Amino acid sequence: MTIKMLDIERQRAAMEPGLTESVLAVLDHGRFINGPEVAELEEQLREYVGVEHVIACANGTDALQILMRTIGAGAGDAVFVPSLTYYATAEAVSLIGATPVFVDVDLETGCMSPASLTAAVDEIVAEGKLTPRAVAPVDLFSIPADYTALRAIADKHGMKVLIDAAQSFGTETPSGRAGRFGDAAGTSFYPSKSLGGYGDGGAMFTNDPEIAKAARAMANHGVYAGQHHYIGTNSRLDSLQAAILLCKLAVFDDELVKRRSIAERYAAGMDGHVAVPVAPEGVAPCWAYYVIRSANRDALASHLELNGVPSVPYYKQAVHAQPAYDGARIAPGGLPNTDIFSAELLCLPSHPYMTDDEVAQVIEAVRSFNG
Ligand SMILES: Cc1ncc(COP(=O)(O)O)c(C=O)c1O
Repeated sequence: MTIKMLDIERQRAAMEPGLTESVLAVLDHGRFINGPEVAELEEQLREYVGVEHVIACANGTDALQILMRTIGAGAGDAVFVPSLTYYATAEAVSLIGATPVFVDVDLETGCMSPASLTAAVDEIVAEGKLTPRAVAPVDLFSIPADYTALRAIADKHGMKVLIDAAQSFGTETPSGRAGRFGDAAGTSFYPSKSLGGYGDGGAMFTNDPEIAKAARAMANHGVYAGQHHYIGTNSRLDSLQAAILLCKLAVFDDELVKRRSIAERYAAGMDGHVAVPVAPEGVAPCWAYYVIRSANRDALASHLELNGVPSVPYYKQAVHAQPAYDGARIAPGGLPNTDIFSAELLCLPSHPYMTDDEVAQVIEAVRSFNG
């Protein structure tokens, strides 16, 4: 039996008949853009994340680039990003004309390393060519970045902290849910995310009224109070997608319980065979992605495939190593931890509709690998 990375059929069954009814309701009222579902979704997300302002938008990449524009980042500015992330974190920086500076990650969490960030910022400051403008840490594979340490470095240099929370919607920390930290955060509703739509979608979260006002306008051609105040873009979330995401949000907490129980079983069953992810004290990740490490990653992936278990080598090639970033700025001392992760990471299926037998099958497949 081959397991799926995602099982949208089983998830859909859990949401029917409400899902079809919600979609039909949009077809009936016909307000496909800025319909009531968008405002309702923003309100529910606001409550869920525990943040003052939520602005829905077209995708996670737009969320990041719009947030960067709200703080005035652009040409001549340095924005510090990890290289161990999805390409879009850095791409958003380049799209607004700023310069991404790639920083190494912490070996425990896979998230941005404060020590590497300090070294990178110091070098940029000493050089005097770029203005350090923002730090954009990523909550990698659902694990929150070290916001406190990163914030202290950002504050020292007058930088904003814009968090890429595309992979952490639903993650709980002792100080609240992911998305409510930093000056603002952006998330993605790409289908494979913890809250994934039936297409593209994203949202911006902030407690800063100025950022919120600019972000809302910029996602809709710079309009507020009937006039175009900014050069914005078209990054609206469709009413249909909002209707679908509302149905998904209704089952989200049940899904989190299942995702966390799968992660517990994986950790108990695989520890000692591969390196399992470890959450910081008091953190309950959403486990949108369950990513293990193995020194023999590619052979393990082949073995898993033979045993009906799909896997994805996230992120086999870090962003600074992509052709588009040939010659990009990286932190002094290089990115040794990023290189280790890139060689060893492997994402396993962890969707909330896995059966107990499927979970056991994944564990057994990992344990039977003699690499
Ligand atoms: C860490 C990270 N940042 C940004 C994005 C971009 O989101 P989107 O695909 O919705 O533009 C993604 C997901 O695709 C991601 O995983």
